Amino acid sequence: MSKTVTITGAAGQIGYQLAFRIASGQLLGADEKINLSLLEITPALDALKGVAMELEDCAFESLVEITISDDPNEAFKDSDYAFLVGAKPRGPGMERSDLLQENAKIFSAQGKAINENSSRDIKVLVVGNPANTNALIAMSNAPDIDQSAFTAMTRLDHNRALAQLASKLGCHSSELSNMTIWGNHSTTQYPDVSNLKLEGEKILSRLDHAWIKDNFIPRVQNRGAEIIKARGLSSAASAASAAIDHMRDWTLGTKDNDWVSMAIPSDGSYGISKGIIYSFPVTCESGSYSIVQNLEIDNFSKESMEITETELLDEKAAIEHLL
Ligand code: NAD
Ligand code: LMR
Repeated sequence: MSKTVTITGAAGQIGYQLAFRIASGQLLGADEKINLSLLEITPALDALKGVAMELEDCAFESLVEITISDDPNEAFKDSDYAFLVGAKPRGPGMERSDLLQENAKIFSAQGKAINENSSRDIKVLVVGNPANTNALIAMSNAPDIDQSAFTAMTRLDHNRALAQLASKLGCHSSELSNMTIWGNHSTTQYPDVSNLKLEGEKILSRLDHAWIKDNFIPRVQNRGAEIIKARGLSSAASAASAAIDHMRDWTLGTKDNDWVSMAIPSDGSYGISKGIIYSFPVTCESGSYSIVQNLEIDNFSKESMEITETELLDEKAAIEHLL
């Protein structure tokens, strides 16, 4: 049985990376057959045709079918996995609340189309910013789909944190585990190293607290802006890579004795308000995720988790009338 993977904004920077990596088998393994369903806005359809032509030219073994469309109802038909990447970027003079409103329209239409057309077992990952609140809007417009199907991406932040820590500790990022990103995919996110392990051993005592607070946390929080400044464009290959990591681990499971960060509907764990999409440490098994419970939270962590929670509650208040 083949799986249908929908990518929105598929002619954009991230979409251009994502489509080829998924079609080549990097999401579900080379043995799983894939139908790619690519959605764009009408003016980008010609460019999207070019992407589809290149996908054909790769002659990927796992790619069965490519459909392109500017109609969300068509693009989400029987979709098993949806990567919601396409979003309106912030234009000159645009306030954050304007950006929220513009994207709210896109994500409410796509939520409705998912509700009407997709597989009932769909897994949705929102990448387009503001990702957490866009995911909340899509979820609220899809009442017939289980709410746990709607997630937003903080895996890029998680991976960025591991890379910074590996460089500081002089190890490889794969030797580190139990990193957590709490909250929003924005500069208020809280990269938390309290439970970090190196080769299975707790490592916090080996890290300088001033470095964590004054260097590491702001670096991870602002890494997106640092990339934009260097490239003149926002991160794309690393974002696509993190999106595949997120969806693959959700589907195939997380490694033993480790967890990942996913922005998911809050169930009230750790005192975080219900009704927002908040990043938690999660383990995944058999296609489902569970929040890691009973972690010790010190005062600094509690305050940091509340700051990013407040931002998400403010974002929600700005688009509440559209939910
Ligand atoms: P891009 O501008 O290169 O591509 C976006 C594409 O989306 C464009 O081709 C555009 O035509 C399309 N699009 C716009 N509205 C659409 C709609 N209603 N339906 C379908 N397609 C639509 O941007 P990009 O670099 O690929 O980034 C995409 C989004 O991902 C941005 O919002 C960016 O801020 C965000 N992002 C998030 C993370 C994260 O970690 N969560 C990381 C990097 C980028
Ligand atoms: C990132 O973290 O790289 C992006 O979310 C930055 C952006 O604003 O597109």
